[in-house]
Amino acid sequence: MEVAVIDRVIENIRSLPIKCALAAISGGVDSTTAAVLVRRAIGDRLRAVFIDTGFMRMNEPMHVRESLKDILTIEVIDARDRFYRELLGLSDAEEKRVRFRETFYTVLSEVAREYGCDWLVQGTIAPDWIETRGGIKTQHNVLEQIGIDTASKYGFKLLEPLKEFYKDQVRELARALGIPIGIVNRQPFPGPGLSIRAVGELTLEKLDVVRRATQIVERRLEGLGLSQWFAAAWEYDVVYSEDLSRMVSGLGGLNAYLFRVRATGVKGDSRSYGNVVLVRGDPGNWGLVYDLYRYLGASPDVTHVVYELMGRGSGRYFVSIRAVLTEDFMTADVARIPRGMLMEIAQEVLINDDRVAAVGYDVTPKPPATIEYE
Ligand code: XMP
Repeated sequence: MEVAVIDRVIENIRSLPIKCALAAISGGVDSTTAAVLVRRAIGDRLRAVFIDTGFMRMNEPMHVRESLKDILTIEVIDARDRFYRELLGLSDAEEKRVRFRETFYTVLSEVAREYGCDWLVQGTIAPDWIETRGGIKTQHNVLEQIGIDTASKYGFKLLEPLKEFYKDQVRELARALGIPIGIVNRQPFPGPGLSIRAVGELTLEKLDVVRRATQIVERRLEGLGLSQWFAAAWEYDVVYSEDLSRMVSGLGGLNAYLFRVRATGVKGDSRSYGNVVLVRGDPGNWGLVYDLYRYLGASPDVTHVVYELMGRGSGRYFVSIRAVLTEDFMTADVARIPRGMLMEIAQEVLINDDRVAAVGYDVTPKPPATIEYE
């Protein structure tokens, strides 16, 4: 990244009439880079906070504060009760996202008022608003681009120094700014966090299941050069589908089922919210698993195809492992992970939590799936 690009961004920020700017840090590369740029431009007039929504991964608030302590002083705001009150019990993906966004910005506007901040710094990048405006999903941090007037609604103006950049460019910018490599390469984590990975009805139990599984999946798949890897969980509630089973009958002894939950996908330029298919059985050749979506994804209502790795007779939840490779997060390929490695992860998830009935691997690229489930 040319120094000139950084200087231009900083100059642009300096030209704004900023009294105090509040940065909501998530610990990811986007929000951190945005905050560091603004700090360079306006110094101590930047205040950085981390909002603990209750949808974070294990020990995440403390971890983020520690890992950034050399470059930013971050105050953790505990808003867990507030978010639980607003979101627990919701099932629909968009409803969760919209409610999350409203709660998030209401909390931020209160903090901004307390600090006397008139601007909010966000790490919004180009795909965030392109997809939200395209109707694919309500990205939690996209406001102005969809016509929300933040000044009258929340009392602050938005400062989004990265909004024309793509992820790979932001990483380049972050490296040039001297941001620690662990943060530069940190995999993305969506703002609504585990609330959209506890798929379907949001409950504290499901959140706990997905949090524990996430810890295992993230640790096991770290260092493989993947773009994003995580766990999601939902009820293990399936019905056999004769039609879908017929579609995969050419692949050997496989059967297809439909989960009761729905998940998001992309069809053409718009968002779809459709079925998640579970495939069970022995594919004979493991490589065939990665072709399953070609047979099933053509069915109009199918957004995700998940292959069951391992199960047991009891437990309420299904855990799905998701691992993708992508340059820009607008499209993504499924990571071709060896079967043995996935089996070991599945086993650890099952041993670690007896509420989990089965574990699978999501074999759907984007499109037709999205990377997340909601
Ligand atoms: P999808 O699921 O749309 O995700 O294929 C593309 C990328 O965006 C991340 N993502 C989000 N990031 N707030 C964020 O900051 C959000 O609301 C949000 N939703 C999805 C997702 O993790 C992936 O990297």
